[in-house]
Amino acid sequence: MSSTKVVQSELPWWKCTTVYQIYPRSFSDQTGDGIGDLPGIIDRLDYVKWLGIETIWLSPFFESPQADFGYDISDHFGVAPEYGSLEDCRRLIDEIHARGMKVVLDMVLNHTSDQHPWFLESRSARNNPYRDFYIWRDGRKPYGAAPPNNWRSMLGGSGWHHDAQTDQWYWASFLPFQPDLNYRNLQVKRAMLDMVRHWLREGADGLRLDIFNAIYKDAAFADNPRSLRAIPSEDNPGGFFQRALHTQNHPDTFAFARELRAVVDEFEDPSRFIVGEVFGSPDLLREYCGPSGDGLNLVFLFKSLRTPFRARAFRDLVDEFESAFPEPLHPTYVFGNHDRPRQMERLSNDLARARLLATFQMTVRGVPFIYYGDELGLSHHEMPRDAARDPLARRFRFIPKFMLPTLRRRGILTNRDECRSPMPWHGGAHAGFAPPDAPKTWLPLHPQSAIMNVAAQRQDPASVLTSYRRMLQLRGRSLALSAGGLEVLDPPANPNKVFAYRRVYEDADHQETAEIFLNFSKREMPIDLRDLPRSAEARLYSNLHDAPIAAKGRHVLRPWEGAVVLWD
Ligand code: GLC
Repeated sequence: MSSTKVVQSELPWWKCTTVYQIYPRSFSDQTGDGIGDLPGIIDRLDYVKWLGIETIWLSPFFESPQADFGYDISDHFGVAPEYGSLEDCRRLIDEIHARGMKVVLDMVLNHTSDQHPWFLESRSARNNPYRDFYIWRDGRKPYGAAPPNNWRSMLGGSGWHHDAQTDQWYWASFLPFQPDLNYRNLQVKRAMLDMVRHWLREGADGLRLDIFNAIYKDAAFADNPRSLRAIPSEDNPGGFFQRALHTQNHPDTFAFARELRAVVDEFEDPSRFIVGEVFGSPDLLREYCGPSGDGLNLVFLFKSLRTPFRARAFRDLVDEFESAFPEPLHPTYVFGNHDRPRQMERLSNDLARARLLATFQMTVRGVPFIYYGDELGLSHHEMPRDAARDPLARRFRFIPKFMLPTLRRRGILTNRDECRSPMPWHGGAHAGFAPPDAPKTWLPLHPQSAIMNVAAQRQDPASVLTSYRRMLQLRGRSLALSAGGLEVLDPPANPNKVFAYRRVYEDADHQETAEIFLNFSKREMPIDLRDLPRSAEARLYSNLHDAPIAAKGRHVLRPWEGAVVLWD
């Protein structure tokens, strides 16, 4: 066994925190229009605090035509009226802080809505002063009838869109109504950095950066190389038969990550952080963090979204993330978000596996990001494609139905409505998401709402919610779990069934060790605890028990049980 990496100095708060993602449209509707809103979120903050969450990430609530439900912003400084007012936003930030929690806002820097005043100006004439705020090019010669080059959007198909009025093409990395800003124009960069400063001044403790990997494109507009890969994957961002060499993960974007970090670091006390939505292998994504950790503080590592739920696969995942993100870098663990299949899909809809996943996520070294509703074990919710609200569903309707489960197992969701159902709070009208007299909710309720809701699971010591809470609270109390180094252990039982690791924290005043044993099987697995240091008074916390027990001799892990043995 190699010597355990020990963390000796205090870590910044954002490395030790736990993050809960709220999709405002789907969390809680106070005004009764069937759409979630900011006052609704305020009403539910006590729940989030009770759960043991330390940081809340809010998906965008800024002014927007809502063609992509807030990821198409038309005014970065205003709140969409359906979500509330600026005053509600300030109150929300204050109420989060008053409960001792932090708040992360979602910054869509890459593009705006096509209804943003800048784009309306930009598209109006070739010589408009805002023309160069976006990326405009002539079509390919001789007739100009073909797009400027072969670049595909992140969704497949050309990302160039012809504008008849000025007979040029504009670039959009995502959907056509989300034109990319031109960061090579310094006015754009300055304006967006000032917008970032604005929200940090308003009290944001962290920022999540939407498709940050697409910010800079090749300045010479060279064609992307061809590839044989049809489906984008973590190792090959791009897909659709080309490598996204000139459209994603550009060296200038790595440099911009450092510029942005410098802006965020202008704000201290408390310190702030940025987490990037970026796609690529862990080794590539490390580049965003900068050569000396002076870039993005964190990046989402989405590989976890398609890791099979097996002991060895999780061990390999941790090995890979640990070697790509050694201290002072810090990994993240994500199993769902508002774009991805519900995590239960990969857990065979088994609640016991969900309780084990919570144990893993809250005990591993890395920031856990928990998507609302996953703490209830909500299953994948299939919805008819023709009634979809998500613009992607329309775009992908040609994909045959039989392929959808395979794509979902790879972490790809073609109708994102399916992971955005209203949060089920209780078994009554509208599952408590909206007042009883509200009209229909913006998306149908999850079919499990009557039983899989907060009220029912709060009472149940065996529920998924109770396991999440146990593990979040344990992590919150334990320096080893929240701030310790990590070492993978040779498991005391079959390595195909049990995954084990150790976390150690040490500073001048404290020392704490945790050993974690996760039983990834439907069989009982005995573990031997006799080798623990004699002097230690070790306690064993299980995801299945309320109170700790003395950790001595042999412990038999029940099927899918996760146990944490802690000592000082
Ligand atoms: C990100 C968001 C997604 C959005 C897209 C365009 O991937 O998570 O919801 O549609 O960017 O902004």
